[in-house]
Amino acid sequence: MDFNSTVLVTGGSGFIGSHLVCSLVNRHPDWRIINLDNLDYCCSPRSLESIEDRANYTFIRGDVCNSRLVNHIFNTENIDVIFHLAAKTHVESSFESPSSFQQVNIDGTRVLLGAAHQARHQPRRFIYVSTDEVYGASLDEVFEESSPVRPSNPYSATKAAAEYLVRSYWDKYKFPIVITRSNNIYGPRQYTEKVIPRFLSLLQMNKKCTIQGTLPKSRHFLFVSDAISAFLLILEKGIVGEIYNVGTSCEIPIMQLAKELIRMVKNVPDSEVNDWLEFVPDRPRVDLRYPINCEKLQQLGWRAEVSWAEGIRQTVKWYQDNPDFWSDTSEDQGQIRSKLEKSPSK
Ligand SMILES: NC(=O)c1ccc[n+]([C@@H]2O[C@H](COP(=O)([O-])OP(=O)(O)OC[C@H]3O[C@@H](n4cnc5c(N)ncnc54)[C@H](O)[C@@H]3O)[C@@H](O)[C@H]2O)c1
Repeated sequence: MDFNSTVLVTGGSGFIGSHLVCSLVNRHPDWRIINLDNLDYCCSPRSLESIEDRANYTFIRGDVCNSRLVNHIFNTENIDVIFHLAAKTHVESSFESPSSFQQVNIDGTRVLLGAAHQARHQPRRFIYVSTDEVYGASLDEVFEESSPVRPSNPYSATKAAAEYLVRSYWDKYKFPIVITRSNNIYGPRQYTEKVIPRFLSLLQMNKKCTIQGTLPKSRHFLFVSDAISAFLLILEKGIVGEIYNVGTSCEIPIMQLAKELIRMVKNVPDSEVNDWLEFVPDRPRVDLRYPINCEKLQQLGWRAEVSWAEGIRQTVKWYQDNPDFWSDTSEDQGQIRSKLEKSPSK
């Protein structure tokens, strides 16, 4: 079968990547979607089972840092579009093993960019999926795309470094890159180390939600389908060389999040909600909030469509309907359990 376009998604088996791949495969039967992923501990093959037999989907198990493999893909396929999502993403682990974050997030991006730029078939877009964390913390300031970048943990530092590499290909070669910086994305199938699935998994195991430190931390939460619609719009209408914040005004204090999930999952009266909270020490420095301005993306016609009430309802229901989803990953449940108890996340 002939396809009109070939899209390479790196990290397409991960949380956001799997939603993006499913969406592309379903919406564009005339596009070929190639997923390059090394199936790290945080993804499950089940995330893509609904599309794995589709004629327009190809999976390549491999490392984005492997230049021979990546060059081979660009030499043998006519890649038109790249969505680069493959990354190490867990902030807490980035303090423990910063070198693996540097390798995948920076070197992997360098390898991919080099191969895409050298390819005989020139891609029309290279979309780098970055994060609001590159701005660092804010108390009052709302970050614009032009705000200074001040990452404050090894994860966000590697994402910022990779952004600079990506931008250098625009500055030097006018290679058609676009960068997205999104808020916290949540929804079904997210691995249990991130804050919402971590609270849900703890509650499912009849354990308390662990709250780090006493500072009033909050996060902006964007439902995954709204993030995907932003990425697809940016592919269609985004201007090359530009950065787009992808965010939401839905800011939820972490304490409120825990209480809301306790009420939803445990069905307890307000007087018993605090019994399901446990306070643990904070990591050395934690960003309190990351507010971003998304007018630039809204001018392209994007609006978040899923309310917090609806998004969290769908998410909680999915985790309740799929309690064993993560038990067949490379980590066994025992390891997941011990990680959940001691490992707070973004
Ligand atoms: N989840 C969020 O809230 C959020 C917010 C903003 C930006 N992002 C960015 O979006 C991207 C995807 O995030 P996610 O939440 O889906 O993460 P995730 O951890 O669920 O997925 C990452 C994927 O990358 C793959 N991967 C890791 N190392 C690889 C390598 N060396 N070669 C090939 N594949 C590799 C993993 O197997 C996994 O499938 C990341 O780049 C992240 O920085 C995430």
